[in-house]
Amino acid sequence: MSKAGRLVVLVSGSGTNLQALLDASTDPSYGARVVAVGADREGIEGLARATKAQIPTFVEKLRDYGTRAEWDAAIAARIAAYEPDLVVSAGFMKILGAPTLDAFPVLNTHPALLPSFPGAHGVRDALAHGVKVTGCTVMLADSGVDTGPIIAQEAVPVLPDDDEAVLHERIKTVERRLLVDIVGRMVREGWTVTGRIVHLGTGPIVRTGNQSGGEST
Ligand code: GAR
Repeated sequence: MSKAGRLVVLVSGSGTNLQALLDASTDPSYGARVVAVGADREGIEGLARATKAQIPTFVEKLRDYGTRAEWDAAIAARIAAYEPDLVVSAGFMKILGAPTLDAFPVLNTHPALLPSFPGAHGVRDALAHGVKVTGCTVMLADSGVDTGPIIAQEAVPVLPDDDEAVLHERIKTVERRLLVDIVGRMVREGWTVTGRIVHLGTGPIVRTGNQSGGEST
């Protein structure tokens, strides 16, 4: 197998999706490994998980910068230092700017069936709307709020007594498995994007010499 794809994972909270990626990458046949974990805040469990796994971490707080553009450039530079093949936004509660999006493929995961219920409160909004089925979406990130091309989705039932925490936990159980599966397939098999349609399976993205990763057509 060629060398493992390099993942930089971005987190803002408990980091259970990060943990699922860390666990998966202990198997060399997975084809990807987490080379760094970045965050927009300190003191979160996601960073502690990275430290425990002896993965380097970095924190860039928006409030430490005079403008959003400066923060965008700073976080892109921190990510670039680890030369990722794929950036995974796993519960990272910030929209990434052009300096990151133009330089790297970025994967995002969301706890609702997009395009329904985008944003920071996908689970709460789905519950409030009274839907009976919700789920999770893994997509490529773009400059919008959860608007990028969808790669995979899975449905999760909403049960009569659910509150936000209970429903989110049921979704996250599915979401972690889906994210691990899609990240692994992307690094092992590559992908192309045609309009909004993502096709998996067009050759590995790990760079050897001059080859590059996923393509847009
Ligand atoms: C996940 O459910 C992820 O989809 C969500 O935050 C959670 C993070 O969980 N992200 C968003 O809502 C982004 N719009 P984790 O920190 O345990 O991985």
